[in-house]
Amino acid sequence: MLSTAICNINMNTPILVASGTFGFGEEFADFVDLSRLGAVMVKGTTLKPRRGNEGNRITETPSGMLNCIGLENPGVEVFLSDTLPRIKDKMNVIVNIAGTSAEEFGELARLLDVDGVAAVELNVSCPNVKDGGIIFGTDPKAAAAVTESAKKSTSKPVIVKLSPNVTDIKLMARAVEEAGADCISLINTLMGMEININTWRPTLGNVTGGLSGAAVKPVAVRMVYEVAKTVKVPIIGMGGIGSWQDAVEFFLAGASAIAVGTANFADPSITMKIADGLENYLQSRNLHSISELIGKVKV
Ligand SMILES: Cc1cc2nc3c(=O)[nH]c(=O)nc-3n(C[C@H](O)[C@H](O)[C@H](O)COP(=O)(O)O)c2cc1C
Repeated sequence: MLSTAICNINMNTPILVASGTFGFGEEFADFVDLSRLGAVMVKGTTLKPRRGNEGNRITETPSGMLNCIGLENPGVEVFLSDTLPRIKDKMNVIVNIAGTSAEEFGELARLLDVDGVAAVELNVSCPNVKDGGIIFGTDPKAAAAVTESAKKSTSKPVIVKLSPNVTDIKLMARAVEEAGADCISLINTLMGMEININTWRPTLGNVTGGLSGAAVKPVAVRMVYEVAKTVKVPIIGMGGIGSWQDAVEFFLAGASAIAVGTANFADPSITMKIADGLENYLQSRNLHSISELIGKVKV
């Protein structure tokens, strides 16, 4: 009942997990039937290994969290030689990639054009690295250049992940669709900051960080709604999803699939509960597939 396909990737459910919140999937095998997830969007991968940011990297906020991990990861070579062979038969693997130039995104996409990788997701929107990220994510021309570079370097579907830290998300969506994106995912985290009133210092080592979790959900639903009206490519919606009811909202707004992020930290088996809840919801309304919900919000 929940099975679907996005960019020709067959998925048992339209429920994915968001990059950076679910490791490489295998860490969650005790809590989740990995094959029941649409895909695991693995931690942001870069050409060279990265240690991430110094100091405190995570703080809890009312209804969410702020993070400034800074793309800590072992680098694409280790991912390809060690991680991918271990995980590729257990789940659909979508590799989230981040580079400091359009060429670097292209190089990563080329290296990852291998068996076991279902798609690449371009993180043009990471707010927590000083050398790139946000510039691609807020400039339509730069985001288009990154998309083109990845597209011509791989035979895999290219998903472009948009930043919510822009005035008009529709401009970004249109630019990456015209540049060849096969799918758009959104939202990444919203830029935020917290200050300790005893020390007068920022809580996070990086000063600012990305806000995620329940607090961002209405922003994400609005952006999915706007982008769905603007582009033809499928949308993977995310941002604050913590229940099947949240997921239904994203489908009605126009998402073809959804991804769960921060909620995995509070309940590592939340995706399975969302899958059960969605199945019951469809049955109770006599609906036969998720496609009967997509974009059906009555405005
Ligand atoms: C700790 C943490 C690490 C993240 N790392 C990445 C990353 O490496 N690449 C990326 O594109 N997004 C990353 N994100 C953003 C999430 O994938 C997601 O887009 C965002 O958190 C909104 O969804 P949520 O509110 O369900 O968490 C990260 C988020 C968190 C909380």
